[in-house]
Amino acid sequence: MGTVEAKKPEAPAAAATGTRSALTLTDQRTGKSYEIPIADGAIRAIDLRQIKTGPDDFGLMSYDPAFMNTASCKSRITFIDGDKGILRYRGYPIEQLAEKCTYLEVAYLLLYGELPNRKQYDEWVQHITYHTMIHESLKKLMDAFNYDSHPMGMLISTVAAMSTFYPEAHNVHDAAVRTKQIHRLIAKMPTIAAFAYKHSMGMPYVYPRNDLSYCENFLTMLFKTPAEDYKPNAALVKALDVLFILHADHEQNCGTNAMRGIGSAHTDPYSSVAGAAAALYGPLHGGANEEVLKMLTEIGSVPKVPAFIKEVKEGKGEKRLMGFGHRVYKNFDPRAKIIKRMAEQVFEVTGRNPLLDIALELERIALQDDYFVKRKLYPNVDFYSGLIYQAIGIPTAAFTVLFAIPRTSGWLAQWGELLEDPEEKIARPRQIYLGSEERNFVPIEKR
Ligand code: ACO
Repeated sequence: MGTVEAKKPEAPAAAATGTRSALTLTDQRTGKSYEIPIADGAIRAIDLRQIKTGPDDFGLMSYDPAFMNTASCKSRITFIDGDKGILRYRGYPIEQLAEKCTYLEVAYLLLYGELPNRKQYDEWVQHITYHTMIHESLKKLMDAFNYDSHPMGMLISTVAAMSTFYPEAHNVHDAAVRTKQIHRLIAKMPTIAAFAYKHSMGMPYVYPRNDLSYCENFLTMLFKTPAEDYKPNAALVKALDVLFILHADHEQNCGTNAMRGIGSAHTDPYSSVAGAAAALYGPLHGGANEEVLKMLTEIGSVPKVPAFIKEVKEGKGEKRLMGFGHRVYKNFDPRAKIIKRMAEQVFEVTGRNPLLDIALELERIALQDDYFVKRKLYPNVDFYSGLIYQAIGIPTAAFTVLFAIPRTSGWLAQWGELLEDPEEKIARPRQIYLGSEERNFVPIEKR
């Protein structure tokens, strides 16, 4: 797992002036002053605990709902500068990786810290390729879902069920066991996703093939039928591979935070990935790509765009422009830029998706509108990805599943890093209790 040494950020101002890297705080309640060390641009919240009004005081906590300004871990995997629109995996700009790598190369990079050499890459691909089959009982389990079950619901449940098929996976501190589960998860996610899709279509499952690349195999499992042969289009395979690279990791987002939170209890990786995927399912997170398509379909035509924008603005947060805005990016999302360019290439093969014009007009108006400009709302990764998925022939309900497949490598990289972190402990936030004081029980007749 990640062995790359991060460069320690320097503190030039402190070094030049001879000042110490510390924060001096004065508690107005007591008049006492405290010096809190600053390291890597942060103070440790636990250092606040010494600030007390008296011996019975628990000590000061920091309150940060939704983790707006709290670093929950130290990581060497993904770097984002939200103001500048920068995204890097292990130091490599996302634009270079998207142009020059395959998804499996990037997955290796995320997990092991370096791009693989030829031998490492061939072995890695071999491991993934030879773990794509799923247990026949798992297939039967998938059969039990209702015909109209959401593919994400099926994926989450099936991945969770895998922990019962591989009980050794509970041994999370054994590196060799961990590696085996990593191979299994990255290899089997596309198979489960494709089976979920086939189930929803009432079609027979198509088994994986070892002579195909990761994305060729996935498209074949999705679209081949017993009635005829299927050869995936090379441009669509490439587009899918790029989309997988762009979705592979995104530091401490909601799903990854869930992965780390569950993993911190030393839960097995299948249950942890299922939990992370459940977080991803939400419409404010990975579920947004599905919502974007619903929104574009609801708008219906370019002339109706201004009225929709007006509704969003007047809704004051009730109705959102899906695929817009991001907790971290307050400039463009670099992934959205790459996807927008790629959409044009995909449409040359598939024909233009008519919803693209509505999306372009929404973006054009929103980027000029004071409401969106003031709030720094730009298109995010989900704004254009759904249009490509739809053009490839993937039904809207399966979009988030296509996000979960590549994000699995990021979740597992973050999980491995967590387990090797000497500061690792079970994740357990504090709360500010505002409920009742102690009170006595009242029998039901007297309430
Ligand atoms: N459309 C309209 N207004 C919005 C949008 C939007 N998409 N996003 C944020 N705003 C407004 C909010 O109403 C709020 O306005 P206010 O200051 O007047 O109250 C302001 O912008 C700030 O919004 P927050 O919700 O505080 O921003 P936060 O960082 O918590 O949320 C989020 C980020 C969840 C991504 C949000 O922008 C959103 O809901 N976007 C739409 C859903 C979406 O596309 N999600 C995918 C994100 S990418 C990913 O997860 C893979």
